[in-house]
Amino acid sequence: MSMILDKVNYIYSAQTAYEKQALKNINLKIADGEFIGLIGHTGSGKSTLIQHLNGLLKATSGGIYYNGRDIYEEDYSLKELRGKVGLVFQYPEHQLFESTVFADVCFGPKNLGLPRKETELRAFAALRSVGLSEEYWYQPPFEMSGGQKRRAAIAGVLAMKPDMLILDEPTAGLDPKGRDEILGQVAAMHRELSITVLLVSHSMEDVADYVGRIIVMDQGSILMDGAPKEIFQRYQELEEVGLAAPQVTYLMHGLRENGIPVDTGATTVEEARESILQAFTKAGKLRQ
Ligand SMILES: Nc1ncnc2c1ncn2[C@@H]1O[C@H](COP(=O)(O)OP(=O)(O)OP(=O)(O)O)[C@@H](O)[C@H]1O
Ligand SMILES: [Mg+2]
Repeated sequence: MSMILDKVNYIYSAQTAYEKQALKNINLKIADGEFIGLIGHTGSGKSTLIQHLNGLLKATSGGIYYNGRDIYEEDYSLKELRGKVGLVFQYPEHQLFESTVFADVCFGPKNLGLPRKETELRAFAALRSVGLSEEYWYQPPFEMSGGQKRRAAIAGVLAMKPDMLILDEPTAGLDPKGRDEILGQVAAMHRELSITVLLVSHSMEDVADYVGRIIVMDQGSILMDGAPKEIFQRYQELEEVGLAAPQVTYLMHGLRENGIPVDTGATTVEEARESILQAFTKAGKLRQ
């Protein structure tokens, strides 16, 4: 099963003085079980794109097909789509509005028409899988920290048991520990619940360790789409659109330019460590 975007265009405030084409001819195929990073400079169209995937925004032109069905067909249920394709907003405040975290997390499954018992069981399971400690469950969401709010917002979407989880900048405003915890938790969900994950971020550093594919957007278009290794090799082009490859890429290229035969395709600190150790071990052996 999959999500396909065929020549999708989107224009905000069409035919007014504020007209803005935010998506330009987007072609995309997302297969089941993928873990994708969607990267782009501010204003490149990331949030606009993902709001198309669950039907919150309707393409000005082009088609979107989910599991083989045209989501713009008249009898297609967008409500059902929103249960299957869960979107966690860029600002958790836009998503949390009930009087307690627990009520908030129950909102989605309740809205799907599930019985109360099933709704509550799902809410408990979702709150546990995002690692939000029990002491917060019955508190008002707006009294929590940024990281806790994000967890609550993710739980609210997970409780609908989506096939696809889309997170818009889930680490914005978090400290490094909070960022690692959230990303680690998302990676665990991808593994354990085998859901497709689309992670929106400004930062290559954030996604490099986790995703299997990176889509780079620039000014409403897809500039690159491929495995992290392929994308990071093009770091000069990334810089031209205001992005950067992870620090590891620069380190490895620097070493190679200085005559140390390391693998410039290493994308994580772990891979870089292996490659550097190997290069030095080999050099040591040759000298003996
Ligand atoms: N409601 C709106 N009305 C008019 N223009 C909009 C609206 N929302 C976004 N835009 C414009 O569309 C373009 C894409 O915006 P979008 O929010 O999708 O970018 P983004 O990549 O998510 O940016 P960021 O990283 O800052 O979240 C920008 O030029 C933005 O100014
Ligand atoms: Mg955005």
